[in-house]
Amino acid sequence: MNNLHRFLRRMRALVLGLMPLLLARFVTGAEAPPALKDVFKDCFPIGTAANRSMVMGGAGFRRSADQNAADIATLKFHFNQIVAENDMKWQLIHPREGGNGYEFGPADALVDFGLGNGMQVAGHTLVWHSQTPNWVFAGTNPPPPDATNPPPALAAGTNGPATNRPGRGGFGPGFGRYTGPRASREELLQRMSNHIHTVVGRYKGRVKVWDVVNEALADGQGTNVLRTSLWSEIIGPDFIASAFRFAHAADPDAILRYNDYGLEGAAKRKRLMTLIRELQAQQVPVHAIGSQAHVNVSTTFEAMDQALTEIATLGLPIHITELDVNGAQGGQGGFGANVADNAATTQGGLVADADKRLADAYAGIFRAFVKHRDTVKLITFWGVNDAVSWRAQGRPLLFDGENQPKSAFQAVITTVGTRTAP
Ligand code: G3I
Repeated sequence: MNNLHRFLRRMRALVLGLMPLLLARFVTGAEAPPALKDVFKDCFPIGTAANRSMVMGGAGFRRSADQNAADIATLKFHFNQIVAENDMKWQLIHPREGGNGYEFGPADALVDFGLGNGMQVAGHTLVWHSQTPNWVFAGTNPPPPDATNPPPALAAGTNGPATNRPGRGGFGPGFGRYTGPRASREELLQRMSNHIHTVVGRYKGRVKVWDVVNEALADGQGTNVLRTSLWSEIIGPDFIASAFRFAHAADPDAILRYNDYGLEGAAKRKRLMTLIRELQAQQVPVHAIGSQAHVNVSTTFEAMDQALTEIATLGLPIHITELDVNGAQGGQGGFGANVADNAATTQGGLVADADKRLADAYAGIFRAFVKHRDTVKLITFWGVNDAVSWRAQGRPLLFDGENQPKSAFQAVITTVGTRTAP
């Protein structure tokens, strides 16, 4: 009986999910859109971040069960690579201390879903200043008098310094910036090692790419290369090298990424070059650069081309890891991606002529990706459609909330042959 119910539910989801494509084909007489993964098959895999309900079924955050079924169908049809938008973050996969403190259910479901549907799976993320539970940093050492607690206020639309500020309510308790007595360097390194060995070890051979360290670079125009975080304060700047060495020991075949946002801007990119060259000089196993690419509709081919050209001189593959193109007025001032700034960067309504500007921006950006396809080895969108995007108000993706392709979709697929064009 259970099996029959499951089968009927799956059939219903399939029909609902294919509805937009069937409508496009048979009601309007138009051809169904081609799958992104097929269009770019000679260039790079096309991936997406997925949320929990997409890999576990049912209703989701801001989505009914039917809407979720349609999102899943779009995911399966267009994408051949997948990453958990949230469920492998430390606070969700390892909320409590100790061997029994892990919650693997949703992450396991994502890996099974991805592999079951012929997708490559990436892991996001092992070490990050954000979304890390307080217990990780807690110990018996009083914080030094010059510690940077509490977090400085952020100016709207800017990329601020490190915070462990929580997301909006409901994303789990205890994730404010930790201000209590701290672990020693050795204790924190031991916790990092245990976490990385357990998580990477669990998915060894199945998750082939990891964001090992996320967003460790400083923002703004100052001279610091690294942002100040509890990781850098307690362990020191070599927390980055240690994380990569632990991950490499846990799975010597995995591709290990350093992942950050804002690399389209010269100041942030300069810090990236400094950091990675230093890690390379120390023979730290960094295998790829993850460039998040949370950009906006003012982003040009030239800006992306210049960024990729410069990053390529590091001699590593580049993965575009979190692509979206913000169309909100409040988001045109930079390439930030702090979730704490999200309200500001999606405010003010959409820019004028937003659909066309989105299509033009995506065309330029993808032209640059195709031009650099010897170096750019993966493109991952940060969400399947506008409705499930963390920046839903900026309508930043190729599909609308009904999973209909927007004009940006058309603009993107026409770039595939542009590399050899004059
Ligand atoms: O799932 C709960 C839901 O049950 C609850 O009712 C609701 C109330 O607000 O919150 C939901 O959780 C939210 C979760 O996203 C799922 O949507 C959290 O509040 C929110 O903080 C969380 O934000 C995520 C953010 O990272 C912080 O971890 C975004 O989804 C995710 O897109 C974003 O992704 C980051 C990358 O990991 C790193 N690079 C930047 C990128 C954008 O900030």
